[in-house]
This record gives sequence, structure tokens and C-alpha cells, in this order.
Amino acid sequence: MTHRTPRFIQTHQSDSSAERSIAIAQLAGEPARIAPKFFYDKLGSHLFDAITELPEYYPTRTEAVLFADHGAEMAQRIGAGSTLIDLGAGSCAKAARLLPLLDPVRYIAVDISADYLQEALRRLQREHRGLDIIGVGMDFSQSPVLPAGLLSERARPLFFYPGSSIGNFTPGEAEAFLAGIHAQASGGGLLIGVDLVKPVAVLEAAYDDAIGVTAAFNLNLLRHLNRLIGSDFDPRQWRHVALFDTAESRIEMHLEARVDVAVHWSGGMRRFGTGERIHTENSYKYSVGSFDALLARAGFRSTHCWRAPDDAFAVFWAEA
Ligand code: AVI
Repeated sequence: MTHRTPRFIQTHQSDSSAERSIAIAQLAGEPARIAPKFFYDKLGSHLFDAITELPEYYPTRTEAVLFADHGAEMAQRIGAGSTLIDLGAGSCAKAARLLPLLDPVRYIAVDISADYLQEALRRLQREHRGLDIIGVGMDFSQSPVLPAGLLSERARPLFFYPGSSIGNFTPGEAEAFLAGIHAQASGGGLLIGVDLVKPVAVLEAAYDDAIGVTAAFNLNLLRHLNRLIGSDFDPRQWRHVALFDTAESRIEMHLEARVDVAVHWSGGMRRFGTGERIHTENSYKYSVGSFDALLARAGFRSTHCWRAPDDAFAVFWAEA
């Protein structure tokens, strides 16, 4: 068998002055908000990994159990020989566990930076010598359209979007994003992890854990902003707030001023009164029915779903 090596393509170019302008405009907006992408500096990424280990944060382990228990049946429905496109691949650990079952001919790992993917993909290539492996660095949250030429008619596209990250889009954004996937998935489909609505106490604990890891993840955003825009946030003047909004069916995370605060950055400043908040994240929770309807609106024609026994989480297979 030929010994292949992974190929890498980088389409996203980070533009820190554009990032600065976005962050300042959001901070100065009414109400103030900061996009969740600013959570993920180096420390923020480590804190997110720590969140996934918390007893209160059920999504990661519940999804892992669903893949372990039903992976073979998922693979049977999906069929071998596909092009597996892993959106937000990171360490590629989730796809790596499914590769022996799904048996694709090509694996396309997508993340913001192809550099992050290098080590994981080289390791995977040693374990799957015949597999065609491509790392793509692109900001797929802006548009899931892959660079031209990566999908071929001979290998059905199988998009993989685990982790319930779809919940971090508004339902309108989620529909547009899923429609963008559907447009590229002809003959194949989408395997996606979705967090489900459940009692408020369980949801709020998952986003406000007892030892404060999620609070640190949220507050670390202020340190990241200080580096990015030269602001003088003091994280000790802020507290983490996580609430479930039943009408919107979403967890909202905020940073709330503990005292009156004046924040300065080069070229601007803003005052926050005690109790005033910066909205940092939404995490939408779906019912099986509402997510099925969303997939249908995005153009998918049939779906199958595997649910955790306590209905905490679901994995959907949606045929394009
Ligand atoms: C990345 N995303 C799916 C996580 C979520 O559950 O919405 C981000 C997160 N925020 C706080 N805890 C986890």
C-alpha cells in the first residue's frame, strides 16, 4: 500500500486589526457584547478542555457514549467509502474513534488554523496509511463552503459536526450554516451532535460549575481583550452569570460588573454601572422535533436520531 502524507491548505488569514475593530464595536454597543470566538486564546482553549471534564458538563461525555454505543449502527446507515469532513476537528480525537467504523476514503479535518492540525493528522496518517488526509485552515463558522476540488462525486460527502457547537449559532444562523453544508453534501449527509432541552437546574449547573472552571473561562475573555485591544479590564471587578432563557431556549452567559467600572482602551472608554452586563455567549438547546424541523428547513430530506437514555443529548444523521 502507498504511504501517504497529509496535505494542508490554509485559507483563513488572521487579521488582528479587523479583530480589534470588531471587539471594540461590540464592547461599545448597546447592550455590550463580545463574540464567543474571543474565549479561545491559549488559556481559554485549555479551560474549555477542562470544562469538558467537569461532572456538571454532560454534553461531551454523553455524546461520546452515544458514538461508542451506536457508532456501528451509524456507520451501517451511512455506508463506507465516503469523504469525511470534520468541522472543528481540533485534536481529531472524535473522528479518530469513528474512522475504523466509517471507513472513509478521504478525511478532511477543518479548523481555524491548519497548523493546529499538523501533529494530529501526522499521527492519524501513521495509523491509517492508505487514507487520503487533508487539513484545511478556514473559518468555517463564517461559511462552511470548502475550497474547490476537495469533494469528488466518487466519494459521498459525510459532514461531521459533533459537540453541539451548532447551539452557539442563533437558529437563523444555524439554518443558513446547515443549508451551506446541505448544498455541498449531495448524495451524502451530516452527522451532528445536538444538546437537548432539559430541566433548568441541570442546564444552569452545566454552565456554572461548582469549582468555577466555567467562570474562569468566561472571565478569561477580559484578559484576552486586554491583550487584543489594550483595555484595562480587572477580572476581579466582574462576575460570571449563566442563565437559561426558557422563551429563547438558550443558556446565556454574561459578565456582570460587581462595582461601577470605567474601562479604557486606546481611543475609547466605557462606563459600566454595578450589575451591568456584557453578553458573551448563547448556547441554544433544541428538542428532537425542533432540530428535525431545522434540518428540514435547511434542505435535508431524511433524518435519524440516536438519543441518550435520559434524553440529555442527541446525534442526528441527516441525508442530503
Ligand atoms: C463550544 N460549545 C458547544 C460550548 C457550549 O456548551 O455551548 C461552549 C461552552 N461555553 C461554556 N461552556 C461550554
